[in-house]
Amino acid sequence: MQRPQPTATERSFSEHEIIVSKTDLKGRMTYVNDVFCKVGLYEEEELLGQPHSILRHPDMPRAVFHLLWQRIQEGAEIFAYVKNMAKNGDFYWVLAHVTPSHDLQGKVDGYHSNRRLPGRNALAVIEPLYKRLLAEEQRQADRKLGMQAGAALLNDVLRERQQGYDEFVLGLATMD
Ligand SMILES: Cc1cc2nc3c(=O)[nH]c(=O)nc-3n(C[C@H](O)[C@H](O)[C@H](O)COP(=O)(O)O)c2cc1C
Repeated sequence: MQRPQPTATERSFSEHEIIVSKTDLKGRMTYVNDVFCKVGLYEEEELLGQPHSILRHPDMPRAVFHLLWQRIQEGAEIFAYVKNMAKNGDFYWVLAHVTPSHDLQGKVDGYHSNRRLPGRNALAVIEPLYKRLLAEEQRQADRKLGMQAGAALLNDVLRERQQGYDEFVLGLATMD
C-alpha cells in the first residue's frame, strides 16, 4: 500500500474511546477494534495481516519505537505517546499502552495495544521533545546511528529531569 503524504489536519476521538489492536509475534495485526478503523480511516480488511508501521508518522523519532520493541521483547509493558497517521495522511496522537500477551502455558504469543486520547498538557511537553529527538536522529549519517543518537538524547533529557522513562510518561499522563 502506498504511504500517504502527511497533512496538517488532526483527527481526534473521544476520551471514552479506546483504540485496540492485537498482533502476532512478528507484529502483524490479528485484531483491530472499530475505533481503530474509524480514527485511522481504514477498513478492517486493510489492516489485518499488516504491521503497525502502516500508521507510522514521519514526525515520530525512531528511538521511541526502539524502546517500545526492546521493552515488549523483554516481556515488559510500556506506555508511549505516539503520533499516528490516518489513511488520508491526517494525524492523531495517542497514549499507547503496549504489552506482550501470553498463551495458557504462559508463553508470549503476540502483543496487544490500548490507546487513549492524550491530554493537551502532556502533548505540550511531548511535541517539542519529539521534534528535538527527530532532528538529532536526522543529523546522523544513517538510520541506525540516528536511532542511537535519539536514544542518547532521550536519556540525557530524562537524566536532566531526574526521572526514569516510565515516571516521565506517567507523570505527564496525570497532568491533564
Ligand atoms: C502492539 C503494538 C502496537 C503498536 N502500535 C503502533 C502505533 O500505533 N503506531 C506506530 O507507528 N507504531 C506502532 N507500533 C510499532 C511498530 O511496530 C513500528 O515499530 C513503528 O511503527 C516504527 O516502524 P519501523 O519499526 O518500521 O521504523 C506498535 C507495535 C506493537 C507491537
